[in-house]
Amino acid sequence: MRDYAGRVCTVTGAASGIGRALALALAGQGALLALSDVDAEGLDETAEQARQLGAKEVYADVVDVARRAMVQGWADTTAERFGQVNLVVNNAGVALTASVDEMEWADFEWIMGVNFWGVVHGTKSFLPHLRRAAPERGAHVVNVSSSFGLFGMPMRSAYSATKYAVRGFSESLRNELRREGTEIGVTTAYPGGIKTAIVRNSRAAEGTDRAEVAAIHDSLSKTSAQDAARVILTSVRKGRSRVCVGLDAKVMDLGTRLLGSAFEPVVHASIERATAKVARQAAKDTAGTLS
Ligand SMILES: NC(=O)c1ccc[n+]([C@@H]2O[C@H](COP(=O)([O-])OP(=O)(O)OC[C@H]3O[C@@H](n4cnc5c(N)ncnc54)[C@H](O)[C@@H]3O)[C@@H](O)[C@H]2O)c1
Repeated sequence: MRDYAGRVCTVTGAASGIGRALALALAGQGALLALSDVDAEGLDETAEQARQLGAKEVYADVVDVARRAMVQGWADTTAERFGQVNLVVNNAGVALTASVDEMEWADFEWIMGVNFWGVVHGTKSFLPHLRRAAPERGAHVVNVSSSFGLFGMPMRSAYSATKYAVRGFSESLRNELRREGTEIGVTTAYPGGIKTAIVRNSRAAEGTDRAEVAAIHDSLSKTSAQDAARVILTSVRKGRSRVCVGLDAKVMDLGTRLLGSAFEPVVHASIERATAKVARQAAKDTAGTLS
């Protein structure tokens, strides 16, 4: 897909963060949009901003990606309404901070439903529509994994498991489609730390200091959602099969491949540095409040 003008592009999780940035970047490039999210209010805001940026058509619907029938319905309605579908971005995702010991079964099932099954539902539901569009106007799937789909992060076993699963599913899909000789492209995106509300929107084991977890995420996140969207959309145009988003994701990719398990202490040290920095800042804030 060389450009997005006049192409029908779908984005899940479009109410916030990377999904919103993708929707707005696509709107600015003349795409017709089908957006979805569980957050109706945030989704309306994105749709309104996309219209203000000149998007000719924006179809926004509340869809829970964990629910297969809902995603299938959204895919069919989108195809019917626009007559074709060219780009599918399975972006919706949630996070969970918990040790394997402490993690609730229900939380594990919840995150698998959104992060893994959501990607499978989106891919399978749109695939027949993409097949029809591919020969004439191009067709592409983007599945959003994570740098934690390249490295098994402590306290993120469930999250990492979903993102490794997205990676395996997407790589198989790409190879399958390539062997068949179809023209449907597949890109797996591996963002590093992106400045979004993902941690604030997510779940954690009981007793977790959620403010501290969010502050550590903020401190480790160097890439804006807008830059992440730009990098992902450029990769699609260039037909790349995988894209690491942000320097930290590139370092994670290279480190795990070159060093294997010897890379683990490097990641642990960086988490410890970020934790210490957040603790120092909290101590300063407390001292400031008391003085
Ligand atoms: N922010 C990061 O540091 C980071 C790093 C790597 C990967 N990612 C991935 O990027 C994607 C986007 O995350 P983000 O950082 O923009 O987070 P975000 O919280 O800002 O946005 C995620 C969106 O997904 C929506 N969502 C949640 N559950 C849903 C469901 N069941 N059905 C439909 N929509 C649902 C939320 O309402 C929200 O609008 C996720 O897949 C995430 O795992 C993020």
